[in-house]
Amino acid sequence: MNSKRSLFLIGFMGSGKTTYGRLLAQALDMPFVDLDEALEQEHGMKVVELFEAWGETRFRREERLMLRSVAGNAPLVVATGGGTACFFDNMDFMNEVGETLYMRTSVRELKSRLIFSKEDRPLLRGKTDAELKQYIAETLEKREVYYLKAQYILDTDNLNAHNLMDSYEAIRAV
Ligand code: S3P
Repeated sequence: MNSKRSLFLIGFMGSGKTTYGRLLAQALDMPFVDLDEALEQEHGMKVVELFEAWGETRFRREERLMLRSVAGNAPLVVATGGGTACFFDNMDFMNEVGETLYMRTSVRELKSRLIFSKEDRPLLRGKTDAELKQYIAETLEKREVYYLKAQYILDTDNLNAHNLMDSYEAIRAV
């Protein structure tokens, strides 16, 4: 049974936070919110456009505020953005008001997933394949310091819609 605390999915771009977050929310019978989508709806622009209009500094401030705003509707499942956990005290905040789940994914797997969607992501746009791999490896190393503060870790390289709930229940049972 779900404990009815909010569940925050964190992890790198391409780790499946939105896809698996939606499925988890259905299975746990909780509402689902994607933080990027919430920002897009609130401001009427895509994340790429928000980055262009605001720059990253303001994007991070707005993201922080939106995280707190959606968390006010607890309990729910929240797919955060790849950087959310790594700015301000967001990671501590999520650990305080709910449960956190790191969707851990290897560099190799991230690269194979992101190669097809890099143009939708402001931090990856225009990178060659080699630059993309290097960026993922370097950034993931820095960000893992934050991601590893999560209460639970789910490895996603071999995750799929069929084994999701068994894998999720197994890590919670430990
Ligand atoms: C970002 C990840 C994106 C989005 C923005 C910044 C990041 O979310 O918030 O482009 O810093 O890693 P996804 O992880 O959903 O792609």
